[in-house]
Amino acid sequence: KKAGFIFDLDGVIVDTAKYHYLAWRKLANELGFEFTKEQNELFKGVSRKRCLEILLDIGKIKATQEQFNTWMVEKNVDYLAYIDQMNASEILPDVIRVLKFLKDRDIPIALGSASKNAKPILEKVNLLPYFDSIVDGNNVTKAKPDPEVFLIAAKNLEVDPSLCVVFEDAVAGIQAANRAGMLSIGIGDPNILSEAAFNFKDFTEMSDSFLESLLNQNK
Ligand code: G6P
Ligand code: MG
Repeated sequence: KKAGFIFDLDGVIVDTAKYHYLAWRKLANELGFEFTKEQNELFKGVSRKRCLEILLDIGKIKATQEQFNTWMVEKNVDYLAYIDQMNASEILPDVIRVLKFLKDRDIPIALGSASKNAKPILEKVNLLPYFDSIVDGNNVTKAKPDPEVFLIAAKNLEVDPSLCVVFEDAVAGIQAANRAGMLSIGIGDPNILSEAAFNFKDFTEMSDSFLESLLNQNK
């Protein structure tokens, strides 16, 4: 039976976490408080709305609905200014090797991201053609660790969830993959992503023979 592969975007394909961080930090500073890199870890895999809720908690700020909406828009405008400057050089190491490995073998590939900016980012870095399906923040109602985003991706690829492999850099993403009954592969710090079935620091550490073994899970 055929396998399907699902990639998270931010932190797996491109390092956009730094741009999210700069945009959130700017807003925090405008509101009169600091926002650290360590705090930014909590934002990985988390929806824009939830991120702002956490940010305002950190700054102990109570917002009206109107302010909340204004700040959501402001953060995204700043973030998009960074995205606009992106190009293929920002694709993380060996991502293209892995995508090509799968494409060469006709393995279906999906994106499973919480971001509402997923498509423009993939376009910017010229990776759109690799993806058979894109499931992002515009298509889901329940955020990771809910498995919804990955289950929709599996459905779109017409692959049984038990035959799907998920690459993720966020704890919530690994949990979502596990709950979907998929094979979770952590990309990043193995101590943080300890719930993953396998861990790699980045794709340069993932051999072709390991990828090959994922194709033949024989489930
Ligand atoms: C990804 C990132 C999060 C981000 C979320 C929403 O999951 O890891 O840090 O908050 O996407 O992104 P968006 O582009 O819709 O603001
Ligand atoms: Mg991520």
